[in-house]
Parts: sequence; structure tokens; C-alpha cells
Amino acid sequence: TRRKVLVAAGDGIGTEVTAAAVEVLRAVSQRFGLGLELEPALVGGASIAAHGTALTDAVLDRARAADAILFGAVGDPRYDGPDAPDRPERAILALRKQLGLFANLRPVRVDEASAGRSPLRESIVAGTDLLVVRELTGGIYFGQPRGREGERAFDTMVYTAPEIERIAHVAFGLAMRRRKRLTSVDKANVLDTSRLWREVVTRVAANYPEVELEHLLVDACAMDMLRRPTRFDVLVTGNMFGDILTDEASMLPGSMGLMPSASLAPPRPDGTHPGLYEPIHGSAPDIAGQGIANPVATIASAAMLLRSSLGQPEAAAAVEAAIAATLAEGVATVDILGPSQGVSTQTVTEAIVARINPG
Ligand code: NAI
Ligand code: MG
Repeated sequence: TRRKVLVAAGDGIGTEVTAAAVEVLRAVSQRFGLGLELEPALVGGASIAAHGTALTDAVLDRARAADAILFGAVGDPRYDGPDAPDRPERAILALRKQLGLFANLRPVRVDEASAGRSPLRESIVAGTDLLVVRELTGGIYFGQPRGREGERAFDTMVYTAPEIERIAHVAFGLAMRRRKRLTSVDKANVLDTSRLWREVVTRVAANYPEVELEHLLVDACAMDMLRRPTRFDVLVTGNMFGDILTDEASMLPGSMGLMPSASLAPPRPDGTHPGLYEPIHGSAPDIAGQGIANPVATIASAAMLLRSSLGQPEAAAAVEAAIAATLAEGVATVDILGPSQGVSTQTVTEAIVARINPG
């Protein structure tokens, strides 16, 4: 079996947290004899600087050929202006669209032991174990027409029944393997796309009679995420709602730097499941280059990569256990522990690697 992982670090802290995850993948590959091939690739601002475009055809081809992609983050203030040759963020949007990565899985867990690290009240967040299933290749981020006419600008929100159907099937399928509760998030009181969303999700529910389905308006969901997060099991959302709700949800464990994600395409005919794995955070130019970024989200994304695209559940579990043990011992970056107690990206990474490959 091929085990090629394309490593697209990108910009800012993307390069720092990806280097950390690569160290962990090397250690786990050695311990479990996985023979992983890790191939670096330029994306985002780094690719603009080298090639004038955020994603070259060559990298796109290599992404298609890889068994999985480990992605850091893209975004560089140097390319924010209207005169920039390209936008770094186009790289991730194009990869998602071109590889058909329509299902974005964003787990959020706060166990009793880690609840005290949350900036929110421990009694509210303890026991949170939810999974946001975000539709990733449709909705307002991709809808046409879009554009700018002087002082007027517009975007279009489009969803088709087949797009909603396939993400609903993914969400119901995952709910079946968990606590069998699904919350479908929409804004059906205002948006036509949401009324279609609700109708199609309800239709798909007939195939999963064991799953208890509820519909929740996105604004109410945003509130309940902070009021009673333990009530959620699986949530299914459109592209933009899932984007916003998961940044909010990152405050349950306490930092964006703890939030991994998997973006999956439909399985290939040979049964393999290509996917892109990335932290939910961006390139964080405010802290880039300081060596203080939290690598846990990217390392946890690498664990999801091992489990979902490479079929290595034991290796994945070893990485997750190493992360949990490291955090439990009080080894964590500034975003978790504050400037006086927080340690560097490298110190956290070494602690995790040491638990995977003792001696
Ligand atoms: P951001 O996620 O980069 O940062 C938000 C805040 O969280 C910042 O204060 C940052 O320091 C902190 N933070 C994020 N990740 C952290 C980590 N691992 N450890 C410690 N602190 C962390 O979002 P922002 O600032 O809105 O965007 C910065 C750039 O990233 C923009 O160019 C944006 O377009 C891009 N972006 C890219 C994404 C991607 O590549 N998938 C996703 C989100 C944003
Ligand atoms: Mg986001």
C-alpha cells in the first residue's frame, strides 16, 4: 500500500505547527513501522512568493495522488491588498473544491480532567463531546454570481438537494456510531437555502430511524453552544454556519490551537478514503515566528489522518494519548497557560514525541 502524505505547511504559524506534526508523524511511523512518505509542498503565500499563484497545478496533482494531505494554514498580510498577485486563502478553497472534500469533521471534546483549563465555567464545559459536520464545498463561499461593483458587493448562497443529501448521510452515519443524536443547523426562518436544507435533512432521516433528529436555528445554536454544550452529539451545518460555530466552539476546550479537523471526499472505488487534515485556525500573523503557537490542533489532525485516511487506528490512538498525557501534565503553550507558565511549540512537541517513542 502507498502511504504518501503531502505536507502543505503554508504560511505564518502554519509552518511551525506543521513542522511539529511532521515530527510526531515520523515518530509514530517509526514506532508502528508505517513507512510514511512525507512530501513537502508550497501553498498559499509561500507559493505566491515562489510561483505567483497560491496553488500550482503541480501541487494540485500531487495532492490528488497522495493518500492524505496534512495542511497547516494559509494567509499572509503581504498579500491582503487589492494589488496582490493572488490571495493565499485561495489555496485551501481550491484544494477543498478540486478534491471534492465536501465533509468537514470538527470534533470538540472537553473531558473532566481538562475542563479546568477552559476560560468558560468548568461545570458548563465538562463532558462536552460533540462533532460538527460542516458542508465544505458549497454554500455562500462558492456560490455564483459574486463580485464587486464599486461601493456595492454581493455573494450568492446556493445549496442543491444532492449536496445537502450527501452531507446529511455523512452526519447521520457518524451519529449512528456515537450517541445517535443529530442537530441540523439552519436559518429556515429567513433563508430559502435553509428551508431546502431542513426539508432534505428530514427526508434523509427516514433512513436512520434510530437517530433522534432536531432542527435548530443557527443563532439559537450559537447560544446553546455556550449555555449547554454537553447536550450536543453530532451537528450538521452549511459551510459558513459551521465555520463560525466551530471558532466559537474552540472556547469550550479553551483555544483554537486545540481544534483539529478532517475534510473528506467520497471513498474511492478501491475503498481508500482521501482526505485533508488541518487545524481549524489560520496563519495567526500576530504570533507567527515567535515559536509559541500551539501545535496540538495540527498534531491531533495528524491523528485523524492516521485513522481516517491511512487506516491506522492504533497509531492514531497513540498520538491522541500522548497529547492528552502531555496536557494533563501541565505542558502547554501560552494560549492555554498564559505567558508566565506557557512553554514553546518545540517543548510541547518534544513532550508529545517522547510519549510516542519512549527512549
Ligand atoms: P487565526 O486563526 O489565524 O488567529 C486567530 C487568533 O487565534 C489569533 O489571536 C491567533 O494568535 C490565535 N491562534 C490561532 N491559532 C493558534 C495556535 N495554534 N496557537 C496559539 N494561538 C493561536 O485567524 P485570523 O487572525 O483571523 O486569520 C489570520 C490569517 O489566517 C488570515 O489571513 C486568514 O484568512 C487565514 N486563515 C486561514 C485558514 C486556513 O488556512 N484554513 C483558516 C482561518 C484563517
Ligand atoms: Mg474559520
